[in-house]
Amino acid sequence: MKINLSKFFAKAQTKFFRFLADKFFARRYGHRAVVLETIAGVPGMVAGMWIHLRSLRQMRTGYGPMIRELLAEAENERMHLMFFIEIAKPNIFERWLILAAQAIFWNYYFLLYVCSPKTAHLMVHYFEEEAVKSYTSYLKMVETGLVENVPAPTLAIDYYGLKANAKLSDLIRCVRADEQRHAVANAKFAEEQQPEQASYIATGDLPVERFEFKESKDRRDAA
Ligand SMILES: [Fe+2]
Ligand SMILES: [Fe+2]
Repeated sequence: MKINLSKFFAKAQTKFFRFLADKFFARRYGHRAVVLETIAGVPGMVAGMWIHLRSLRQMRTGYGPMIRELLAEAENERMHLMFFIEIAKPNIFERWLILAAQAIFWNYYFLLYVCSPKTAHLMVHYFEEEAVKSYTSYLKMVETGLVENVPAPTLAIDYYGLKANAKLSDLIRCVRADEQRHAVANAKFAEEQQPEQASYIATGDLPVERFEFKESKDRRDAA
């Protein structure tokens, strides 16, 4: 898919999902965060799995950093969910919505990723930008007293290394910074689908030392 068409499609999808979220949650940001973080944890896992399978199929190195970044993104989103579940408990309807959304969105994103990874990463890039805006609005509500600035969950304090008396506002700032990082990473992945340093290992005669077991960051990054 051409980049402009990809952009148009990714933006249209983002507007559509944003419209649904605005209609459903309005300014109930705690509940919005819980439900949307269950969706946000999907793309990194799907993309990471697909790139892993691509590396296996092509018998090619160079995908390691991308796979790890994508899986780390999924892990990070899962942690966001665990933090906000302490702040807002989903009602029974929202729990059903999460089940349905996961069933639909996993398959939808997988198909999109197989057909056009560039579009899929662009879509996540725009989703993440919307997440930054939503968390900024949430933060404003907390700072202006519309939402109580409750203590941050212990799990979040440990995860981000926050002070023991950290508040919800501190947690939101950390989560928003994560979303910003995801937005940048996905924009980069949309630009470069093939890792530049990728190299075939299936047919080449590799030097013996390539097979020595030695834990090093360089070696992990090469894979
Ligand atoms: Fe998130
Ligand atoms: Fe994110």
